[in-house]
Amino acid sequence: QVFRLEDYGPSDYLIPETDLTFQLDSADTRVEARLTVERRDGVAADRPLILDGDGLTLESLLVNGAPVAESDYEATADRLVLRSTPPAKRFELTLVTRTDPSANKALMGLYVSNGVFCTQCEAEGFRRITYFLDRPDVLSVYRVCLEADRKTAPLLLSNGNPTDSGELEHGRHFAVWHDPHPKPSYLFALVAGDLGAVHDTFTTASGRDVTLAIYVEHGKEARATYAMDALKRSMRWDEERFGREYDLDVFNIVAVSDFNMGAMENKGLNIFNDKYVLADPETATDMDFANIEAIIAHEYFHNWTGNRITCRDWFQLCLKEGLTVYRDHEFSADQRSRAVKRIAEVRTLRAHQFPEDQGPLAHPVRPRRYREINNFYTATVYEKGSEVVRMIRTLLGADKFRAGMDLYFERHDGQAVTIEDFVRCFEEVSGADLAQFALWYHQAGTPNITASGRYNGRAREFTLEIEQSVPPTPSEARKRLMHIPLAFGLVGSNGEDMTFDGADGATVEDGVIHVRKRKHVIRFKGIGARPVVSLNRGFSAPVTLSLEASAEDRMFLARHDNDLFSRWQALNTLFTEALIEATQRIRGGKEAAFPDELLAYPAEIASDETLGAAYRAQALTLPAEADIAREIGSSIDPDAIHAAISGLREAIGSQCAGTFGELHEALDSGETFTPDAASAGRRALRNVLLDYLSAGTGTPEHATRQFETADNMTAMAAALAVLAHQFPHSPQTAQALAQFEERYRGNPLVLDKWFMVQATTPGPDAVERVRGLMAHEAFSLANPNRVRALIGTFASANQTGFHRADGEGYRFLAETVLAIEKDNPQLAARLAIAFRSWRSLEKKRQEHAREALATISQAKELSRDLRDIVERTLA
Ligand code: ARG
Ligand code: ZN
Repeated sequence: QVFRLEDYGPSDYLIPETDLTFQLDSADTRVEARLTVERRDGVAADRPLILDGDGLTLESLLVNGAPVAESDYEATADRLVLRSTPPAKRFELTLVTRTDPSANKALMGLYVSNGVFCTQCEAEGFRRITYFLDRPDVLSVYRVCLEADRKTAPLLLSNGNPTDSGELEHGRHFAVWHDPHPKPSYLFALVAGDLGAVHDTFTTASGRDVTLAIYVEHGKEARATYAMDALKRSMRWDEERFGREYDLDVFNIVAVSDFNMGAMENKGLNIFNDKYVLADPETATDMDFANIEAIIAHEYFHNWTGNRITCRDWFQLCLKEGLTVYRDHEFSADQRSRAVKRIAEVRTLRAHQFPEDQGPLAHPVRPRRYREINNFYTATVYEKGSEVVRMIRTLLGADKFRAGMDLYFERHDGQAVTIEDFVRCFEEVSGADLAQFALWYHQAGTPNITASGRYNGRAREFTLEIEQSVPPTPSEARKRLMHIPLAFGLVGSNGEDMTFDGADGATVEDGVIHVRKRKHVIRFKGIGARPVVSLNRGFSAPVTLSLEASAEDRMFLARHDNDLFSRWQALNTLFTEALIEATQRIRGGKEAAFPDELLAYPAEIASDETLGAAYRAQALTLPAEADIAREIGSSIDPDAIHAAISGLREAIGSQCAGTFGELHEALDSGETFTPDAASAGRRALRNVLLDYLSAGTGTPEHATRQFETADNMTAMAAALAVLAHQFPHSPQTAQALAQFEERYRGNPLVLDKWFMVQATTPGPDAVERVRGLMAHEAFSLANPNRVRALIGTFASANQTGFHRADGEGYRFLAETVLAIEKDNPQLAARLAIAFRSWRSLEKKRQEHAREALATISQAKELSRDLRDIVERTLA
């Protein structure tokens, strides 16, 4: 079945009030739902009421308190149909269903994780709990009563505010929660179990006192304090930057160890993958701390962008996700270094969204059709969706952007709306016509910009030719011209931006060129000397850019551009070009060779004190193998790319050994660990240097020393990765791996790092290594974090291992995906997207990948999730 945007129609019936009573039992939970149902005006009573279900059995049904004749309804696992409804507009439906939470391995609906009852309802999990109008435009006020055994579940949580609690017979107790804010069913949540907590309070700008709590397994409370700090900073930031206050008396967060995604923004009761809550210096890396900060903020920000204003239907997913990612990006940029944050965002976008947009799974930010909505929680909806909001801000400027957001909050509070409603707010406050711009929501594919410049000294003119094109994708064969805002500068020889007397050929305003036609020839007048053009500054538009420029000009920008993102980009482009050339040489049986300046410059930038350490670490980080593969685009040989990158790392490492060695030493300050951005930056720089030093000297000594003396996980995990990746067969590596395993045996989240490091160890024996680790006592196919650490990392980040020339990596993934799929279709479908770029591989690998995909698609009783991914990938 295919769902289509154009088929949307409002529901005939609404459910203004929902009253739920859960008698929680891990094997047999009884759910009683009392629904106040209302027929929409103009809808006749003989219109059937059709409620969604998923795997349910109905135990009893009452309408207005009376039983219903068998002939008047039909209940199957997937739906409950009431053939006609009472004459009065409002009536009450009481239904009882039973579920077995401990048997729920899909982790959707009500399930048990480590003895704790919890729920995940987005997108369509509520229908696994009771029959309901399980669609985001049906908003309801919930009252929830939870009953459970007091011993095993002293803690009973749901959405909203607590209103009542007390004792029951047989050692059981109850709690009642009331959420005054009407919400869609996907935001429903409950948690019941025995957990420890950290508590805090927050007073909102207008003086509301909010009780905050983060619940974790007993004994892990200390590891939740950073998350609590991040929560309070998020709450303050949303008031200051967006004027958004919290709206309940309590805000609860619960960390669970079995969770399909990162976290979930249930109203007043966020549920988190414990990976994004738990952190301390000994067990978490700086990356973990940054992720926790970002995801705590993301889920909190959903309270306004997602919960108070929600989506009309699931085609509008980016309305809440793209916007909320944009908000969490801005938050992190304000908390840390803006330039470094931007570079990291762009790396993520290119690594995850570009391949999606350029392959068989490409879809618009606002899709028009889907078979399984779970497969649309994608990098395109989230990350490109965020870029589109960022571009709106670029087009309008800070003040009008804020005015548009204010109007959106004011006009649509309490509603379920569309992207069109969102865009209209910005058009109204600015008077701008965003019709062409809105194609960013509706048209898939990464636009490509080609550009070249010419200077005419006699005419004192600089001419810039810019052309756009958008390649065809499965959703649209022919593309319309887009409105692409390109931030730019004409950099003079002193490094300053040159001013000009005017420009024609395109709208050029506030440092932005507005590309709207296929081709623009822009003439900048009154330019006294040849400038070097810096284009797409700050990555103002999510495009691929081929800018004709000499290596000298790029190096000039790497040294002098006053936009820090573009400095990084210029150097990154130089690395990329050198690596592509080296890859071709290696494939042609020649030695890789690199330009001298590219080998010497890293020492210069590493010790440039005018730049922050975190920034220098980013500048020194070479493009990943997948980056080079994407740039090459077709007939890819991952082994040659790997050899090229290793060659460049080694060449830089030995050329810069002196400087890098001293700096690596100097950065080991012995200071006590703090997770702030500045200290994290120094650790990041130190770790990049370690990678080069080890490659340059060809010995594991530096890494072994760092591993042995490390007093924090950032230093330790980085040293372990260098050992395992560069010296997989050395005794030092074996010893470090064994020590790490021994030390963190009892801590699954830390052991995930050990799995990851081995899953990403390059080379043909990676498949066997990963197979072997699946038998490790700490590994389990039932836990998404374990699966992602070992299998997911192998498939997405081990280019030489997964893409082994004989196809064994593909066969392994196909087999594993099928094994997981039976219990957890969502997780299996996620893993299978590792196949998405198969057509860009060289011939033999393509054939092997096609066969592996065919094996999956021929399996019988395939889940909707996996079938959808595999069929689109093969199409
Ligand atoms: N809304 C969640 C977020 O914060 C993601 C939940 C997705 N869950 C799913 N089963 N598809 O981004
Ligand atoms: Zn989200």
